[in-house]
Amino acid sequence: MKGIVLAGGAGTRLYPLTRVASKQLQPIYDKPMIYYPLSTLMLGGIREVLLISTPEDVPRFQELLGDGRQWGMNIEYCVQDEPRGIAEALILGESFVGDDNVALILGDNVFYGNLRILEIVENFSTGALVFGYYVNDPTRYGVVDFDADGNVLSIEEKPATPRTNYAVPGLYLYDSTAAARARALEPSPRGELEITDLNLAYLSDRALRVQLLGRGLAWLDTGTHASLLDAAAFIGAIQTRQGLKIACLEEIAYVRGFIDRTELNTVVDTMPNGPYREYLEQRFANE
Ligand code: DAU
Repeated sequence: MKGIVLAGGAGTRLYPLTRVASKQLQPIYDKPMIYYPLSTLMLGGIREVLLISTPEDVPRFQELLGDGRQWGMNIEYCVQDEPRGIAEALILGESFVGDDNVALILGDNVFYGNLRILEIVENFSTGALVFGYYVNDPTRYGVVDFDADGNVLSIEEKPATPRTNYAVPGLYLYDSTAAARARALEPSPRGELEITDLNLAYLSDRALRVQLLGRGLAWLDTGTHASLLDAAAFIGAIQTRQGLKIACLEEIAYVRGFIDRTELNTVVDTMPNGPYREYLEQRFANE
């Protein structure tokens, strides 16, 4: 399975933070936001990733992440010149994905907990898979309704009167028909190729499934200054309690077997002295 991280958009709600660097480059506690969705793909065993962002920000992501070699990955980049919708990511990524399946994640979506993403990725073969997460205010999200057997009944984008409290997080698994389906979509009244419309295209072919995420999993919001601060406090609290880092990409690359011990040491050697380097030096010291 290939991965796409969509990390463009205007980031207007976080102005003036986003005047110079995009939303997905802002810190969540001790790491840039983009580390978190990237870590979700890596935990899913995905090593080939396309990062899509604005013309201004693609060079910044390249500077931060490089070609992914240091994590045993291959990261490629693509420009989305206007925010024409989340589903456009599948069209922009068409040649990158080829005949493969793809996991699309939004660059501002942060998951923490037992998502079982490796198992989910390994078991995925055809159609589309979305997730459902119980939230207090579903009107801000895509909202999914389903029957007792887990069949999707409806999926609506930011409904005024939601049928359920289950929001659809920004992580989607698609088979190789996604790009063709995205091309067939019409822009919505707000002028975007809606990801919800792509999911509806799968639903009309009875090819959309939903997997509910338990309340023990954290899907954090990063859309406002307050929620960004909450997310940082949450990550900081867990890390301090456990002494383990969330979304430490070198650690995940090593644990997932993308890099070996020598390669881990090599990448650690490039880091400046400080807590991040010390963490990695001590993390596997007794192995
Ligand atoms: O976070 C999950 C939600 O993401 C879903 O529940 C919704 O169904 C889905 O539409 C989306 O809702 P948002 O209101 O969060 O979408 P937004 O337009 O804010 O875009 C989400 C991220 O994707 C944002 O960080 C910017 C980026 N983006 C968005 C668009 C429309 C792009 O990079 N390019 C785009 O064209």
